[in-house]
Amino acid sequence: MTITARAAICRGQDHPFAIEDVRLDSLRADEVLVRIVACGICHTDLAVRDRQLPVPLPIVLGHEGAGIVEQVGSGVTSIKPGDRVIMSFNSCGHCPSCEIDAPTYCYEFFPNNWSGVRPDGSPTLFQGDAPMNGNFFGQSSFATHAIAHERNAVVVPEDAADLPLERLAPLGCGLMTGAGAVLRAMKVRAGLPIAIVGAGTVGIAAVMAAKIAGADPIIAVDVHDSRLELAKELGATHVFNAKDDAMGRIRDLCPKGLGYAFDTTGINKVIEDLFALLAPKGVLGMVGASAPTDMLAFNEAEFMGSGRTVMGILGGDSDLDGFIPEMIRYHQQGRFPFDRLIRYFDFDAINEAIEASERGEVVKPVLRMAAA
Ligand SMILES: NC(=O)c1ccc[n+]([C@@H]2O[C@H](COP(=O)([O-])OP(=O)(O)OC[C@H]3O[C@@H](n4cnc5c(N)ncnc54)[C@H](O)[C@@H]3O)[C@@H](O)[C@H]2O)c1
Ligand SMILES: [Zn+2]
Ligand SMILES: [Zn+2]
Repeated sequence: MTITARAAICRGQDHPFAIEDVRLDSLRADEVLVRIVACGICHTDLAVRDRQLPVPLPIVLGHEGAGIVEQVGSGVTSIKPGDRVIMSFNSCGHCPSCEIDAPTYCYEFFPNNWSGVRPDGSPTLFQGDAPMNGNFFGQSSFATHAIAHERNAVVVPEDAADLPLERLAPLGCGLMTGAGAVLRAMKVRAGLPIAIVGAGTVGIAAVMAAKIAGADPIIAVDVHDSRLELAKELGATHVFNAKDDAMGRIRDLCPKGLGYAFDTTGINKVIEDLFALLAPKGVLGMVGASAPTDMLAFNEAEFMGSGRTVMGILGGDSDLDGFIPEMIRYHQQGRFPFDRLIRYFDFDAINEAIEASERGEVVKPVLRMAAA
């Protein structure tokens, strides 16, 4: 059966996203066909548009999709038609990282997420008879329908049946990255200070998770006062504007040093300044996209002598089947009110949604493909 979908085609920085018809390939054994209800827009989609990442264009982007399964491939056992699913990044399932349930560090990350096609080179999408790049993060969810995989689609738990999919969509990347960095990767301990730089989706998710972990104080830094206000409402005990000597104010507040520092800006100077603020055994986690040529410099004696850790983190170290339901439980308990970050846009308004987020007016834009 041929499935056609409306999909937003990304042709690069100089072109608005264009909603056009695409045809989906028939399903392989491990794949699922999802009717997309909503998809969050993440900074990484825009990094691809701007050619900061080695992903081929034109392409159908979107990697925070949520929807309803319409068909499953012959080998799929854990998902059935009618299931409500949240999609995230894909992984191979058999490399050394996948074997220890660390799929964000899959040895085959590129072919499974960023190559524009399946790992075997076959396209998932077509326009007319010509292949169109897709399979972005194993989904390409800026579309009314997407092909995803059993490994990267997580069924929403039954006790969360009342939660709308359009709210849950951004759990698959930005929220998972910030919350997982704090709870899974850095394993933040109660009572120790944390500073989080950048109060976008990832940073504010980290603030909410730091509160869950019991960190104290929880310091958020950004250049937008509106984002700092939101961070304060959602768990930050102190907020500093980066334009106002934030690093000096952190040093004054925590003279013994930071137990944890988390950078979401990818700015070299910010990361090095945070390193200098770490306490003995302090952990610096970093997730922000940076220029491919950027290099960091740390003092070796400080690094070794006080037992510091500098940690690159992808996808919040999440095991999808464990951490996505865990975040939903925190949300149900009122401890992870990420809905406060979201503003919804119709799918047709994708370019307006991107512009609003780039102006800093909306933290997490979510596109609505269909009501459900
Ligand atoms: N490693 C991963 O797995 C992963 C996953 C998702 C996103 N990311 C990356 O993480 C980063 C953050 O994502 P996001 O969605 O939260 O982006 P975002 O743009 O919403 O947030 C970044 C925030 O940093 C602030 N900022 C910029 N310069 C600053 C400075 N000098 N000092 C303080 N704050 C500053 C901005 O005002 C903004 O609020 C992006 O680079 C994104 O590509 C990484
Ligand atoms: Zn793998
Ligand atoms: Zn993302």
